[in-house]
Amino acid sequence: MKDAQVTRKKLKVAVLLSGTGRTLDNFHSEIGASRLHAEIVAVASSSSRAKGVEKAKQYGYPVFASDEKNQRELSRQINEFILPRHPDVIVLAGFLKLFFMPEGFEGQVLNIHPALIPSFCGKGFYGMKVHRAVVDSGVKVTGCTVHFVSPIYDEGPIFLQECVPVRAGDTPEDVAARVFELECRLYPKALNLLADGRVKLSDNKVWIEE
Ligand code: GRF
Repeated sequence: MKDAQVTRKKLKVAVLLSGTGRTLDNFHSEIGASRLHAEIVAVASSSSRAKGVEKAKQYGYPVFASDEKNQRELSRQINEFILPRHPDVIVLAGFLKLFFMPEGFEGQVLNIHPALIPSFCGKGFYGMKVHRAVVDSGVKVTGCTVHFVSPIYDEGPIFLQECVPVRAGDTPEDVAARVFELECRLYPKALNLLADGRVKLSDNKVWIEE
């Protein structure tokens, strides 16, 4: 048995969302299939009308939703809800607000962006806007990026990145579907690496131990 398997633990995860909760669905089914070594201890939403809130309730996760417009106050409320549940990591899963992480959580907050950072990212690049810009630009590959969160949108050390092709005649919807399929594999992979204790952050870069 490899060392990584010996040290593997169940990662306690808090999931933050704003929309449909497709990433929450993926985590839920990956945990159910024992491919993701994690436990969802809390779900928080920046919108009380988000579909993801209903899904979280159906799945039986503790859920908090707030329509607070002030992003700092919203983060404060979210942190107040999730911290007593002792998450090891906070995972942004389609969370469209700026998140002010709790003190001491550097290197424990993750986001996934549906493009290859530093391209097609930053303020205004979310959802289909990203994939439309990708198709309009004529690039031949796109992909997704799991990164640690810093105070700037879509910045912070890159953790994992993988590519998918952009093919002649692809619509933004085609690209979005291909990228999301990749996300469903890459985000759980990142969390499993954390659960295995194989991730080192140094000099603002991420190193994965083989
Ligand atoms: C994902 O595509 C991810 O890249 C981005 O948000 C999307 C999931 O959000 N960060 P949703 O569940 O469709 O609202």
